Amino acid sequence: MIKKIGVVGAGTMGHGIAEVAAISGFRVSVVDISWDFLNRAKERILDSLKKLYEKKSLLEKPEEILNRMEFSTSYEIMRDADFVIEAVPELIELKKNVFKTLDEITPRHTILASNTSSIPISIIAESTKRPEKVIGMHFFNPPPIMKLVEIVPSKYTSEEVVNITIDLAKKMGKVPVRLKVEVPGFVSNRIFLRLMQEACREVEDGEATIEEVDSTARNKLKLPMGIFELSDYVGLDVAVDLWKVIISSGTAEDVKCSLFQKKVDAKELGVKSGKGFYTYPAAGKYKKVELPASSKVDPARLISLAVNESAWLIQNKIVNAKEIDIVMIYGFNFPKGLLEMADELGLDVIYNHLKDIYSKGYKAYKPNDLLEEMIKEGKIGKKSGKGFYDYKS
Ligand code: CAA
Repeated sequence: MIKKIGVVGAGTMGHGIAEVAAISGFRVSVVDISWDFLNRAKERILDSLKKLYEKKSLLEKPEEILNRMEFSTSYEIMRDADFVIEAVPELIELKKNVFKTLDEITPRHTILASNTSSIPISIIAESTKRPEKVIGMHFFNPPPIMKLVEIVPSKYTSEEVVNITIDLAKKMGKVPVRLKVEVPGFVSNRIFLRLMQEACREVEDGEATIEEVDSTARNKLKLPMGIFELSDYVGLDVAVDLWKVIISSGTAEDVKCSLFQKKVDAKELGVKSGKGFYTYPAAGKYKKVELPASSKVDPARLISLAVNESAWLIQNKIVNAKEIDIVMIYGFNFPKGLLEMADELGLDVIYNHLKDIYSKGYKAYKPNDLLEEMIKEGKIGKKSGKGFYDYKS
């Protein structure tokens, strides 16, 4: 029975995860390395709780929820935690040290979860003496709003631990999607990477401007943010990091495009630094960017590489089509699933875009075997009655 949840790291994700846990009625202990970080986290949690309370999304007073939370620079407050979620920066040695410390200090029954979006869970697990109790629990920014949690077992994680973690995600009001096996970047970031890469390629190849790409994303696909805008929101350093991790794992062909790396080199990291592809009112302050109302960018072309990646995920039995759509709806606030969109836009249209870009020398766009098969069988989406989904007339 989980009563107390520990959160290590009080940054963008950590403070939000701690807040969600406290809202759900758990006692919560938050550890970070300095009181500056902890005090800032407390302020952000209180601000967020007040917003939710004013909207009546919360019935309990913010102060009462805060009373269930304790903050410290010492791991001592983790001694009676039943479940710990780590959300420290994505540095492998740092994560290993955190897990080693947690392994030493927490009771034997405690499950140790990581919110990492890019580091293999099995490597983190190996730094503990309880690898079967280590699991990935990947939240989305901002955690109080985004409903998705990816549940990522490593090769060591026990089924019991997977089930407890799924159950906990539900108790925290989240929608869990379990990956059958761990894959670099999980489902969410592999698809996000493919959206960024195609957006990047279109701009670098002179097919469109940043604003035109984002206009199509927001106005035609009806996404809450443009692709460049979302990358700014996530942090361009984080985006480049996950790009490198997925590509260097050898499980995905790269798309050579330097726009993102150039921004990071110029220390323009997006919303967190006040400037990225767009300029924001202040560092850390997001404001919806202004975009042209119409754009020549074809929505089917923009999602083509992401659809190809989805086919790869399905073919490798990591998740099914429905689960991919749940990831995009609850993790990125898409108005409908990516594969529902693909079926509506036409898989033949998407396939032709892939072949066209592949013919320009971009190997990543080689249509996936599953997609090839679907096209051959005439399963080209809604108009043919069959695509990733079946449509009854
Ligand atoms: N706490 C409480 N409420 C919050 C909040 C928070 N932290 N952040 C935003 N809100 C509320 C706002 O108060 C606002 O409420 P009202 O509608 O009642 O006024 C509502 O959420 C919408 O916020 P805004 O009006 O400020 O702005 P918006 O309409 O543009 O929405 C957004 C902001 C919800 C973030 C929306 O743009 C969105 O869904 N964007 C996509 C975000 C996304 O894809 N996240 C995933 C990133 S990937 C990731 O995290 C994983 C990884 O590993 C990289």
